[in-house]
Amino acid sequence: MTQVGAKVVRPRPTRTAELDELVIAVRGAVGKHADWGETARLVAGELERNLPSPEILTAEQRTGDPGGYRSHALHTEPDGTFSIVALVWRPGQVTPIHDHVTWCVFGVIQGVEYEELFTLDEENECLVEAGSSANRTGDVSGFAPPGDIHRVCNAGDRTAISIHIYGTDVSRVGSSVRRYYDLPVRPARPAA
Ligand SMILES: [Fe+2]
Repeated sequence: MTQVGAKVVRPRPTRTAELDELVIAVRGAVGKHADWGETARLVAGELERNLPSPEILTAEQRTGDPGGYRSHALHTEPDGTFSIVALVWRPGQVTPIHDHVTWCVFGVIQGVEYEELFTLDEENECLVEAGSSANRTGDVSGFAPPGDIHRVCNAGDRTAISIHIYGTDVSRVGSSVRRYYDLPVRPARPAA
């Protein structure tokens, strides 16, 4: 620690130290071998306590890509039980509507991510709007299938960055996505 007058300046943790702390914390939560829902809740608590700064990425990675949102693998647990990925979104960039092969926890470390949720109406072969939320810097949330159909976009005016933790080795299974949905979207029916 460095003392500057009356002000105490803590040295900035290095990129590796930030990631190491997060990995150790998530490893502890996943090691409890709870069900998916409880694991997502425990991991969300650890991500909240160990949320990295945007400097976990290089300056070049933080600029994003005009061609679409970019994903950067930060860590894959050797036994394949979880992966940590950073996503970088320029304003207006959006995912397709999708759901997931496993639990997912995400935390915003820069900007705002807008998330829309949907339910599947199999009978009418459409999706039904099921709510939305704006996740701001510092917000952390987690979910586990089923009931995890969503679309995420950067609706703000600056580049957004988020940390996503998935309960699998996403590089081995190829993606965290179970299915993409190309169905018409209907508004939720107003309550009777
Ligand atoms: Fe997702």
